[in-house]
Amino acid sequence: MRAIRLHQAGGSEALLCEDAPKPIPTDNQVRVRVYATAITPTEFSWYPTSHTHNGGSRPFPIILGHEFSGVVDAIGGNCVGVQVGESVYGLSDWFIDGAQADYCLTIPANIAPKPASLDHVQSAVVPISALTAWQALIDRAQLSSGQRVLIHGAGGGVGGFAVQMARYKKAQVIATASKTNADFVLALGADQVIDYRTTPFETIVQDIDVVLDTVGGETRNRSWETLKKTGKLVTIAADAEQMTEPRVRDAFFIVEPNRAQLIEIARLIDADILKPIVGTAFPMEDFRQAYEEKPLRGKHVLRITGP
Ligand SMILES: NC(=O)c1ccc[n+]([C@@H]2O[C@H](COP(=O)([O-])OP(=O)(O)OC[C@H]3O[C@@H](n4cnc5c(N)ncnc54)[C@H](OP(=O)(O)O)[C@@H]3O)[C@@H](O)[C@H]2O)c1
Repeated sequence: MRAIRLHQAGGSEALLCEDAPKPIPTDNQVRVRVYATAITPTEFSWYPTSHTHNGGSRPFPIILGHEFSGVVDAIGGNCVGVQVGESVYGLSDWFIDGAQADYCLTIPANIAPKPASLDHVQSAVVPISALTAWQALIDRAQLSSGQRVLIHGAGGGVGGFAVQMARYKKAQVIATASKTNADFVLALGADQVIDYRTTPFETIVQDIDVVLDTVGGETRNRSWETLKKTGKLVTIAADAEQMTEPRVRDAFFIVEPNRAQLIEIARLIDADILKPIVGTAFPMEDFRQAYEEKPLRGKHVLRITGP
């Protein structure tokens, strides 16, 4: 099969598109014919990209791209609940090879039927961003109707879904974004958008129940003072992983695959409550360009096969 493989630590310059062995599903594994996979530029430096589950070094070459949309092509002998020919989308185990290839392996718990109203390119940008927003706002912060939520990076992949989910939960949504994205974020359902480049948000926002920090650093430091006494901050920014400050450690989490949540997210997409935000869909061979060009909003996608 064709695969984009990382041959040494580094960035997109260390990737090569080449022939690779087609994976064989065993036990409860599912092999997916990948149609599209979204680009996550920070994945090069993530812990599971260089480590195995038990802390050892992962051997090169490594295939990136852990969210995908495609069609089930084969299943292992103990695989239940998934049919060959089914269109699925999902987020697979960060520690194994990903979906920047003609085929990838996953398990039934990490995938779900793809939203019927979306094509594969649109579906591919959903799993990481929507699951992260869901696990932050609903699982961790337990956001409820009438609460005030401050969402940083609302023009981005995670922030865009978070604004739509908070709106769906009937929260009051205050968002930070650059001026270019302000109208777009309002259209997603924010009540107020603050241009982070010109206005220090903490000078105009107070009494917040929930902060979702997708940015980290100074943005997170200045966010604590906007919270009510009972307020909660949740952070997904990678710099939090290295920090020792207890409140930051408590606030940080890493998204996990979740079939039940993918099913519910697909239902909300098909009901027109959530919309995916796609940057540009690049052909597989233009993978370097897909990493190097920053999307105006949402995430870029690699189209592996299909229309
Ligand atoms: N822990 C986890 O499980 C997890 C899961 C998913 C993502 N992440 C991480 O979370 C971060 C966000 O992910 P993403 O996919 O949403 O990224 P993204 O699509 O690149 O979006 C980031 C957004 O942040 C905005 N931004 C930059 N500086 C800002 C600031 N000072 N204040 C407010 N907004 C600012 C940018 O807005 P403008 O374009 O408007 O300037 C951009 O739209 C990334 O670092 C990613 O690695 C972590």
